[in-house]
Amino acid sequence: MNILGINAYHGNASAAIVCDGKLVAAVEEERFNRVKYAAGFPAAAIRYCLKEAGVTLADVDHVAVPRNPYARLGTKLFYAMRMPSFARERIKMLAKFTGIREALAAAFDTDPERLQAQFHRVEHHVAHLASSFYCSPFEEAALLSADGLGDFASSMWGAGSGPRMNVHGAISFPHSLGLYYSAITQYLGFWKFGDEYKVMGLGAYGEPEYLENFREIVRSNGNGFALTLKYFTHHRTGPEMSWAEADKTPILGKLFSDELAKHLGPERKPEEGIEQRHKNLASSLQVRLEEVYLGMLQRLAEQTQLKSVCLAGGVAFNCVANGKIPGGTPFENVYVHPAAGDAGLAVGAALYIWHQVLGKPRSFFMEHAYWGPGFSAEETRQAIDAAKLGQTGFAVAQLDEEKLLERTAGIIGEGKILGWFQGRAEWGPRALGNRSIVADPRRPEMKEILNRRIKHREIFRPFAPSILAEAAGEWFEKSHPSPFMTMAYSVRPEKRGKIPAPTHVDGTGRLQTVTKTANPRYWRLIKEVERQTGVPVVLNTSFNDNEPIVCKPQEAIDCFLRTQMDALVLGDFLITKS
Ligand SMILES: [Fe+2]
Repeated sequence: MNILGINAYHGNASAAIVCDGKLVAAVEEERFNRVKYAAGFPAAAIRYCLKEAGVTLADVDHVAVPRNPYARLGTKLFYAMRMPSFARERIKMLAKFTGIREALAAAFDTDPERLQAQFHRVEHHVAHLASSFYCSPFEEAALLSADGLGDFASSMWGAGSGPRMNVHGAISFPHSLGLYYSAITQYLGFWKFGDEYKVMGLGAYGEPEYLENFREIVRSNGNGFALTLKYFTHHRTGPEMSWAEADKTPILGKLFSDELAKHLGPERKPEEGIEQRHKNLASSLQVRLEEVYLGMLQRLAEQTQLKSVCLAGGVAFNCVANGKIPGGTPFENVYVHPAAGDAGLAVGAALYIWHQVLGKPRSFFMEHAYWGPGFSAEETRQAIDAAKLGQTGFAVAQLDEEKLLERTAGIIGEGKILGWFQGRAEWGPRALGNRSIVADPRRPEMKEILNRRIKHREIFRPFAPSILAEAAGEWFEKSHPSPFMTMAYSVRPEKRGKIPAPTHVDGTGRLQTVTKTANPRYWRLIKEVERQTGVPVVLNTSFNDNEPIVCKPQEAIDCFLRTQMDALVLGDFLITKS
């Protein structure tokens, strides 16, 4: 039985296919149309998923759409009456969602009447919860989803057992931890969609001197929290998001009110420098988020008496907060879906149909994130030939694995910057050793070199370490698995000087724990780096330059040539400057 999950007309449009209860493929549309966080209808992603599964649209039994326009209808009507522009937007969205069958048929040039599949709607946060629980290794777990807004809710929690999950509670619009973080991110001068990461990185440079002010902005209550709405605008205007254009990155309208500047001081304009005050505000924002988020988890642990928790929703990308769950709450095991943001809804909705709707038992565990496109040796060779690398000052060698890893580890150890492209592309926003740029973690100057030559990012943003999973406890103060780079732990003080490049200013690292089973070749590369340098760690950053992560070999070659990387590995091919 084939179930297609489609996240459409929303940021991070994506598709996934589940065949007989097992995920076969999942990918974001941005990897094909090269528009970061692309919204619209994910036609290319759907085509890829069907191809990977070896099926046609006619073989799809169920289509799961992670959106239910009828969820929380009372609250929606209440706000629609107060905000006519919001009501018009809702009506447009409703028309789009009821038209998914037509959009799917149109993408495949077929008649909607000929589609045999049964269509299902799964509420946004239910799909988030399902994406994490049904991919986790846990038979029983507490579940929490938190983000900006989806189907008029911003958080939902519950518990899962075997194939069943139950929702225990939710927080509705306009109260939202995600919108809280986005509003302060804008106030600090970062206006692009997805800039919350930057502010989280900035917070490590400050002290939470404004914590009391932030406790007034987000108040704790009962099972959750409430925003003090006078500091925000979205409850009056609706969050203004332009999602639906396929060729534009989403844009979020202004979320904070003039009252916020009275409470915290003047906003920072994007062109203004970053002062210590801004760092302290970022720190206070983060500390308050942690208080509320960990408080919700604490209550969830008490209510469910469970030791494992599954997380999803954009807030679950806050690796600094996640890193505090083990030890800071009763939860001993944490699983975060690698595409915790809205891309992951496609997987969650599809698995929800399989387990909760069809009642099928669990048989799948997402141990790795490599669910995107892969390319054969022949396709890779063709891309290298088409780029004429051999004739333009590069040496191209096809090597057996032992030789390839020995030479590649040597290149890393010499302080060179390496593009590393292997196997199937990662699902979710993190490069996890298949579409990565890899460098020597021992060199403090590496961060600056990477920023100047390749990534062009703000200097206050940290780079991340990939570490052999079995060595994590020796190098970090916690060793709970972090296979998808969703946890930040403190590097042991005696080790910080040994891996300065991916150690953040506060002594933490957003680590990827690499196991031999999840990614054998990447594990062996790091093992070889350890043999040559004594350090079981590499610096790992995504293979891109202000664009979606590269997907095809051609894009990797273009990025390699455009930036100033020193060497590129594509499958078994090593490309160096000759
Ligand atoms: Fe979401």
